[in-house]
Amino acid sequence: MCPANRIPLYDIKLSKAAIDETVASLKSGWLTSGPKTVAFEEAIAARCRVRQAAAVSSASFGLSLALYLAGTGVGSQVITSPLTFIATTTAILNAGLEPVYCDIDPVTLNIDATKVSRKLTRKTRLILPIDIAGHPCDYATLQTIAKDRQIRIVSDSAHAFGALYRGKAIPHWTDISVYSFHATKNLTTGEGGAIVSRHSNWIERARRLARHGIDRDAYMRKQGQHWSYDVPELGLKGNLSDILASVGLGELTMFDRNQEKRRKIADRYRRNLAHLQDRIELPTESPHCRSAWHLYIIKLHTGCLRLGRDQFIKAMARRAVECGVHYIPIPDFSAFRGSRANFGKLPVMDDVAARVVTLPLYPSLSLSEVDLVCEAVESVIRRNIKRTR
Ligand SMILES: Cc1ncc(COP(=O)(O)O)c(C=O)c1O
Repeated sequence: MCPANRIPLYDIKLSKAAIDETVASLKSGWLTSGPKTVAFEEAIAARCRVRQAAAVSSASFGLSLALYLAGTGVGSQVITSPLTFIATTTAILNAGLEPVYCDIDPVTLNIDATKVSRKLTRKTRLILPIDIAGHPCDYATLQTIAKDRQIRIVSDSAHAFGALYRGKAIPHWTDISVYSFHATKNLTTGEGGAIVSRHSNWIERARRLARHGIDRDAYMRKQGQHWSYDVPELGLKGNLSDILASVGLGELTMFDRNQEKRRKIADRYRRNLAHLQDRIELPTESPHCRSAWHLYIIKLHTGCLRLGRDQFIKAMARRAVECGVHYIPIPDFSAFRGSRANFGKLPVMDDVAARVVTLPLYPSLSLSEVDLVCEAVESVIRRNIKRTR
């Protein structure tokens, strides 16, 4: 049984602005993509300092669409990371592309850009890195690799809305970036995502493809007071409704404040847990990077502890703190049973993935609750230090 006053891993508290915007949208008589979706897309583009963004029903859909837009052709190889949410890999496989897994950086948990070159073949057309926990990948190195070989970079930036690399949003370093606005993300619409790119023509196409390829959607037709439309190219269905865009518009008014809170929580964790650095590794920001602090992932030095990661999480639960794991490695899923060899050798991932634990991090988490989480961490660690003779 969970103790009372438990500190959950996520606690989603929508702003009043989001609720008001959504109620207004519900009362407006326009529920599907319309004025709110347009306004939301403009706001997302403005935040990223690009001209256009396409709002979509999820980042999962956005990734599939981004891979289609990148136009690499069936059978092409995509270099990606094995430590991510399943949606990254599914998007690659569903597009008829071949994922090639590169090992991860032991500090950031992102793809190890210094190892990507070793994975290149004649069939490599794309690199699909993931900004884990909201920390940007090493885009300078990835760009150098991609540029000389005409390889595209599509980033799964599901965690990284608001993150900066060398002072710029991630889409400035990629061909296309995909953000998620899923319920637990640092900007939410409940479910949703956005495709963002410096290439405006790709975004216009993405928007069209997300509504069956129709050139003038219902809202445009209403505005233009003409019923007709064309389908110049067949698409899929993955647009964002005005109802959900309203949630996002409201949440955006609080975004800077929420990000500031996330940063303060991360700082507090660092200050409180710094003295345990021999036993746990804390996340950091690499030079030139500003993390979106979507997640706070620590790594246990299990070699000097008497308990493993799962026991640690259970011990934290007994102290009323819910923890999570980001991520279960892709090759560990039973869907890939029997094909582990296809993933190649991933020694860093194998070591690190067994030791990661995600602590609660969200704007409504108070600093005194952070202190309680840290007391729980300290208590579990102190009771489980391996004594050397
Ligand atoms: C790394 C990563 N990629 C993709 C996704 C898919 O996002 P969505 O739920 O918006 O489809 C997620 C969602 O959790 C994610 O964490």
